[in-house]
Order: sequence, then structure tokens, then C-alpha cells
Amino acid sequence: MACPHNLLLSFVFFGLISCAVLSATPPLLQEEEDTSITRFQGYLRIKTAHPDPDYSPAISYLKSQAHSIGIQYKTLEFAPGKPVLLLTWLGSNPSLPSVLFNSHLDSVPAEPSKWVHPPFSAVRTADGKIYARGAQDDKCIGMQYLEAIRNLKRKNFTPTRTIHVSYVPDEEIGGLDGSNKFVGSKEFRDLNIGFALDEGQASPGDEFRVFYADRTPWGLKIKAKGPPGHGSRMYDNSATENLMKSVEVMSRFRESQFDVVKAGKAANSEVISVNPVYLTAGIPSPTGFVMNVQPSDAEAGFDLRLPPTADPDQMRKRIAEEWAPAIRNMTYEIIEKGPIRDYMGRPLMTLTNDSNPWWSVFSEAIRRAGEKLSKPEILPSTTDARFLRQMGIPVLGFSPMKNTPILLHDHNEHLQDTVYLNGIEVYEFVISSLSLFAGASD
Ligand SMILES: *[C@@H]1O[C@H](CO)[C@@H](O)[C@H](O)[C@H]1NC(C)=O
Ligand SMILES: *[C@@H]1O[C@H](CO)[C@@H](O)[C@H](O)[C@H]1NC(C)=O
Ligand SMILES: [Zn+2]
Repeated sequence: MACPHNLLLSFVFFGLISCAVLSATPPLLQEEEDTSITRFQGYLRIKTAHPDPDYSPAISYLKSQAHSIGIQYKTLEFAPGKPVLLLTWLGSNPSLPSVLFNSHLDSVPAEPSKWVHPPFSAVRTADGKIYARGAQDDKCIGMQYLEAIRNLKRKNFTPTRTIHVSYVPDEEIGGLDGSNKFVGSKEFRDLNIGFALDEGQASPGDEFRVFYADRTPWGLKIKAKGPPGHGSRMYDNSATENLMKSVEVMSRFRESQFDVVKAGKAANSEVISVNPVYLTAGIPSPTGFVMNVQPSDAEAGFDLRLPPTADPDQMRKRIAEEWAPAIRNMTYEIIEKGPIRDYMGRPLMTLTNDSNPWWSVFSEAIRRAGEKLSKPEILPSTTDARFLRQMGIPVLGFSPMKNTPILLHDHNEHLQDTVYLNGIEVYEFVISSLSLFAGASD
């Protein structure tokens, strides 16, 4: 069972023998010793940014980490070139529902010229800031899960429930070929997952944030048609007039939602947001637009975000009857990006009170780690958690970063080394508590 040069014999897992390529990128610089920080830097140096994320060296790197820790690993592929890595730490009672710790392999692009340190250098400054695309979103948690397991194994901790760690592609571009396909697979069903943690966001204060739902994004295009005419004529029902009527109605709706936020009665993420993203009409000419013709077509695009409490059917009705009514010669298209209800038709939210025993175990683990959680929130944007919630699995969004500026997708994304290290300790409490949890066997 020799592996060729540059290949390393990996563990026997799932009945297979495999050779993993581990030399695709040299993740550690020569002079660096192997510590949890340098292992984090090694992962950050692998370019998995869009538009062309290089997943295979990231997978190899994570496999070599799993190998050194001594846990099982397996690569799954549901779309060509888009691997999912699944790590497994078998529990002593594998018949109990397992616990999943998810993160994504990819990140958004970075513009190096806008950064004080190159975005894939993972430079650690004298004051301990680690600069890299993905430092907060979300390679931190991907490595912290592993480091926590490494420490727990060193302390001879034995999990009761099986612990899985997944690394999925394409989260930043909607996850359709990533988490979406993974959760729909037989391999996923066989994991029998009872509870999952996925990414959250940094907290500028000294409490960790925790998220129990995402908002569902909709793209809405509304189109108006009407008789064209000379720019000088006043007549009814031109395309732009009809479109502007809709924009007025939508603006009023937007204000009604925003007023609730401004009055402090709801968070931004708890209302339906409607934001215009493009407007188009007019007849182009070499010098701009033709100025004396009223066009026969006009179109506008909106970004809508629906919290789980919103009724999608009522929203569709509002769009059909008020925002783009056929009687005003309007048509529309809704691009629904992901699910809004689970397979049972329930809103995609995870309960954060004692009726959800997983919540009790999780929040107690945070308390025992000497930390505090702020009031559970709805994430203003979207993560892969929605695909897991769609399967009826309770999921919390959690990235243990406190006293940290929110820099996801921003220039100069960085994370303080002490914050990173503290997060590993927090996950030791969280992973061990969830794994030992004896209750809820459904
Ligand atoms: C709808 O379009 C037709 C044809 O252009 C036009 O005659 C009619 O006035 C329009 N109706 C409305 C309500 O815009
Ligand atoms: C938990 O929250 C849900 C949703 O808000 C509520 O219906 C339920 O009664 C709560 N249960 C307990 C035990 O507080
Ligand atoms: Zn993310």
C-alpha cells in the first residue's frame, strides 16, 4: 500500500484506503512552527476566493489536519469540481442523532490594492491581528472546530454523540451546488443530524451574537409596457408612468417597514426590506438618451429580504395586485433564492428557548465557558443554515468573535489572534456539551 512520492497514505476510513495529495500548496512558511495560529494562517493562504476558488488544495490541507488529529474524513462531490469535505469523530453511541459543525470553503473576492497587507498572506501584525480574506468569514470557525477537537482528543475526551464537521463549497454564490446538494443527498440523510452550528457574525461588544434564522432573498423585476409617444405629449398609461406608480407604492411599503426599525420596535433583519437595485428605460443614442420620445418599456429591479415571520404567499399577492398589476400592463418576475419554509411548511427558524433542548445545552455551554450571548437575532443576510433548516434540523449561526469589528466582505478583513484562540476554548465547551447531551433522541 505504498503511495507515490508526494502522496501521503491516509487513514483507513469508511472501508476505503485513500491517498491524499498534501503538497499542492505549501501552507506553512518554512520558518513557522506548527501551532494553532500557524495552522489557521496556512488555511487562510489557500485562495478559495471567487470567481475561481481553488478547492482542492483547501480540501487536501484540511484532510492533512484531520489526519494529524486522528479523525475520519471523506470527500463527497455533488457537482464537478465542487467538493464537500466531511470529517467524523465517532461517538460512543452512534445511534443517537449526531451534531454537525458546518463552514464554507469559499470566500468573496478581495481587491489587493485596497488592503494594507495582501489578502492571502495571512500576515500577523506585531499587535496580533491576522489579515486575510476569510479570517472572519468563515475560515476561522472551520479551523477552530478542528483545533477544539484536537484539544479534546488530547484531553482524552470521548464523545457520546458522533460529531461531524463539514466544509462546503459555493456558499458565497448561493450554495446551490454546495450545501443545497449536500443536504439533499443520501450521504447527508445517513448522518442522522439532530442539531447543527453554522457561521454567525462578529460582535463589536463583549457578548457573542447568535442567529436563529436567516432572511430569504428574493430578486424582483417589474416591467411596464405602454404606448410610446412624443416627449411633448401628455397622455395616460405610458410605460414609465405605470412603472413610477409602482415605485411610489413600493416606496410607501418600504417606509412602513423602515419606520418600525427607526422607531426601535424591530431590528433591521426582522422586517421585509425592499431596496431598488436598478432602473431602466429610455432609448439610447450616441449622446445619451433620446430626449423627446417617451419609451414603450420600463423596468426596475429590487432586492427583497423576507424574515421567516413574513408570509411569502401574502407577499406574492401584494406583488401581483399592487406592485406589478396586469391591469396596468405590468409583468413581473420573482427570483427566489433558496427555501422560505421547511419540508413541513414551517418557517425556517430555530427556537431559542427551553422548548428546544439543544438551545439549552448550547447556551449553558457558553455560560460555562465564562461567556455571554446577546439576544438571539435574525441574520440580515443569508447563509447555508437555511438549507439545513429546510430539512427540519435546528441550526444556530455562531462565530465566537467578540470585541471585534464586523469586517466580513470588507477590505482588510482581519481577526485578533487572542479572539481566535479564545474561540477554540469556547468550542471545546460547546462540542463536548453537545456531544454528551443525552436527551432528545428524536
Ligand atoms: C395597456 O396597454 C395598451 C396597449 O399599449 C394601452 O392601450 C392601454 O391603455 C394600457 N392600459 C393601461 C392601464 O396602462
Ligand atoms: C418558545 O418559543 C416559541 C416561539 O416563540 C413559543 O411558541 C413557545 O411557547 C416557547 N416555549 C417556551 C417553553 O417558552
Ligand atoms: Zn460566510
